[in-house]
Amino acid sequence: MNLQDVFDLYDDRLQLVEQKINELFRNKIPSIPLIGKHIISSGGKRLRPLFHLISADISGYRGDANIEIAGIIESIHTASLLHDDVVDMAEIRRGKASANSVWGNQVVVLAGDFLYSNALRVAVLLKNQKIMESLSSATTRMTEGELLQLNRTGDTEITELEYIEIISAKTGALISAACRTAAILGGLSDEHENALANFGMKTGIVFQMADDILDYMADEKELGKRLCKDLEEGKITLPLLYVLSVAKEDESAEIKRILKDDFSEKGALRIKSLLKKYNSIDISFNKARRLIDTAKAELSVFPDSKAKEALFTIADYSLQRDK
Ligand code: IPE
Ligand code: IPE
Ligand code: MG
Ligand code: MG
Repeated sequence: MNLQDVFDLYDDRLQLVEQKINELFRNKIPSIPLIGKHIISSGGKRLRPLFHLISADISGYRGDANIEIAGIIESIHTASLLHDDVVDMAEIRRGKASANSVWGNQVVVLAGDFLYSNALRVAVLLKNQKIMESLSSATTRMTEGELLQLNRTGDTEITELEYIEIISAKTGALISAACRTAAILGGLSDEHENALANFGMKTGIVFQMADDILDYMADEKELGKRLCKDLEEGKITLPLLYVLSVAKEDESAEIKRILKDDFSEKGALRIKSLLKKYNSIDISFNKARRLIDTAKAELSVFPDSKAKEALFTIADYSLQRDK
């Protein structure tokens, strides 16, 4: 089963989710649907809804609340992207001008606020305390992760453990909640619910590691974002962390200088050459690959099924993606 097979399998349900996402952007204040249309129609892989829908299947859930929750989760994700691009001063998102570069920070921050709170408002209407708890703590964690990252900007003393802590919060938490809320819908035991949530967390961490690797080596057009953006932002991610841990003293000092200076093409090229010298991209990939194996192992409490195979497929994709 490849990713396209999975998307094909879930095509009908994903179309229903798309309607829900659109509903969440409906509002009499024109900025909301305007910004909504801009970011929704520019693509987005809809991976988090997919995580939720497949997890609902593996949990044996047969109702239709999963469609609504998938929409809520994508809406929370969209809010985080709107805010993230303001924080990162990003000009491009999903291959198009970012919302902040079209409408400015003020309205985009507020549109993000609206999306977060509206998503959680709709979640409350489901009247399921556990689901509400999972979605609201994930949302809280995401902001904590972004703040923690901001605190560590340009800090070359950051450890791998701290990096994992940041990406667990900013990216892992929501993917984990996408899986956990499905397990709750299915009324699974705590053991099975936690297994799915752990699978989502580990896969989410890998997903962000891949994002951080792609930032150095993707095809810019395919990625729909600018390359070396993390470096420009002073974000020290997995590939650079590794180089800092093995590089010679003068090389480390040079990296620190480059990070301190204004971003330059030359500095980025030098860092890239050091990543190459220490084989850092491959080593980072391998690290993420081992984590994917442990993510898959979490699912050993579930019998083999098509849904399990689909989860394995998106776990692999989280690392092997090119956008
Ligand atoms: C982007 O997420 C933000 C990260 C967590 C890296 P995605 O890569 O899932 O973004 P879209 O929704 O497909 O654009
Ligand atoms: C992802 O962070 C945003 C969230 C998870 C909230 P990044 O800043 O790394 O994502 P991109 O690269 O802009 O998509
Ligand atoms: Mg960003
Ligand atoms: Mg990134």
